[in-house]
Amino acid sequence: MRQDKKNCQANAQMLYLVHLLKRLKPWRIAYGLHERNGKMKIVLLNTSARKNGATSRILTGFSETLSAKPGVETTFMHLSDLRIGFCSGCCLCYKNGVCHIGDDADMLSELLDNADGVIIGTPNYVGNVSGQLKTFIDRGHFVMEQLMKDKYTVGVVTYENTLGGAALKVLRNLFVFSGAKGYSGLVVKTPFGSDPLASQKVKAKVTRMAEKFYKSIRDKKAGPPINRILQSFAFNIVIKPFVLRKGDQFDGVLKHWSKRGINYERR
Ligand SMILES: Cc1cc2nc3c(=O)[nH]c(=O)nc-3n(C[C@H](O)[C@H](O)[C@H](O)COP(=O)(O)O)c2cc1C
Repeated sequence: MRQDKKNCQANAQMLYLVHLLKRLKPWRIAYGLHERNGKMKIVLLNTSARKNGATSRILTGFSETLSAKPGVETTFMHLSDLRIGFCSGCCLCYKNGVCHIGDDADMLSELLDNADGVIIGTPNYVGNVSGQLKTFIDRGHFVMEQLMKDKYTVGVVTYENTLGGAALKVLRNLFVFSGAKGYSGLVVKTPFGSDPLASQKVKAKVTRMAEKFYKSIRDKKAGPPINRILQSFAFNIVIKPFVLRKGDQFDGVLKHWSKRGINYERR
């Protein structure tokens, strides 16, 4: 009887010790346990139709550096492998929280929703993102629902001649106005059909950015103040009053906000 009691006390002490160890920040960081499910989840999305093109190569560079980090789980997706149709413009997703079109769009949004970090790469098509990406943006519940809330993000654009910066601005606005905590962008000029990572300068830049991205997520770094100001303005002055004015027509959006810990009060 007394032995049982002693064993019980020893077990309880051991469990308490394990609990304390788990709470030690450096130990948790080393094993990535500060992230949900013990993993730091990063999704990389190539939105060029060319799976081995310049954009995909740059994302592979990011993926290689990130996958080598402790506790990191990367998922590399090609948008061209998915079935994503045009938005039908019905606005029913604002009411229901999901789209009525039964294709891969909601699955992909959910994958991004469950990530700590998101990297989207696109070729520059006439100063904009690829049509495939634009189609997904329209379907992906990004801005109104704040899909990128508190996530760390990177936008990558490859181009051959001109207007790469214009396409990157589209990505930056998408991430920042969808609530991302961290954002950085990379624009790479490279001849069509070439491997941009063949340039040591580009390769080093990709590695540097990937390292910084990993550390930002690991240490939960605050994003640049200018992004926070832009976000606060866009959300509190424009998006929030607009959504609340819509009443129960926008119940689906409010469901997304609750899930993401965004406070709102209905009038
Ligand atoms: C429809 C289309 C439009 C393009 N528009 C531009 C452009 O405006 N400026 C530019 O520099 N390159 C333009 N390009 C070239 C691509 O942006 C560039 O080759 C890119 O690196 C290709 O990426 P990928 O190999 O990942 O598909 C265009 C290519 C296509 C197919």
